[in-house]
Amino acid sequence: MTQNKNKVVIFLGPPGAGKGTQAERLAAEQDLVKISTGDILRDHVARGTELGQTVQPILTAGQLVPDDILIALIRDKLAGMEQVRVIFDGFPRTQAQAQALDLLLEELGAPVTAVPLLEVPDEALVGRIVERGRQAAARGEAVRSDDTEEVARKRQQVYREQTQPLIEHYEGRGHLYRVDGVGTMDEVYSRILNGMR
Ligand code: AP5
Repeated sequence: MTQNKNKVVIFLGPPGAGKGTQAERLAAEQDLVKISTGDILRDHVARGTELGQTVQPILTAGQLVPDDILIALIRDKLAGMEQVRVIFDGFPRTQAQAQALDLLLEELGAPVTAVPLLEVPDEALVGRIVERGRQAAARGEAVRSDDTEEVARKRQQVYREQTQPLIEHYEGRGHLYRVDGVGTMDEVYSRILNGMR
């Protein structure tokens, strides 16, 4: 019956740390639903929805979308879930979002299981983001509007100011563990699994 047990994993870490990459693999291997707020917002932008039009300039500037929008999105995603087996990638990002998520999970009787914090030096992060933009352009794919050096640095600053304080929020609850995010994707994945045991 372990397959049916609730599991809530929250990936924390700065832009470019590998949250999306690692969350995708963990979701596939452990039958979890990955909830990536960045992907959800970019999908709205691509479809030109009203929400997409509202958030597009915010994403391009590397700023955070208002808390009420994000909290409503997550509430919708979790609504009606009988088993809460999810990975959050990119949420929560502010104290208000973390508090709202605590309440939502409490209502669902699904406490946080683990919070891996991916750590990568700043310069390597900017390099990864710029490289992703360069490669997408070389392949003729859509380039994320925030994958430039200037916006990557802005996103880092926003992370330090608004998201880094969440480390204390989850450390205080005993869920958080630090993961060296430098190395091959397999190496980083193994470290994440080891910390989860
Ligand atoms: P979001 O999409 O969440 O962007 P981010 O956190 O800045 O994340 P990235 O996708 O750049 O990095 P990542 O850590 O996921 O790394 P990835 O695996 O992609 O958010 C975008 C925007 O949406 C925000 O700025 C904000 O405007 C808005 N938003 C989203 N959520 C919000 C919220 N909760 N509240 C308010 N606003 C919100 O990897 C990055 C690159 O590195 C890839 O090319 C990858 O291939 C490569 N890579 C991965 N691992 C390795 C490795 N081990 N070695 C070398 N390269 C690697």
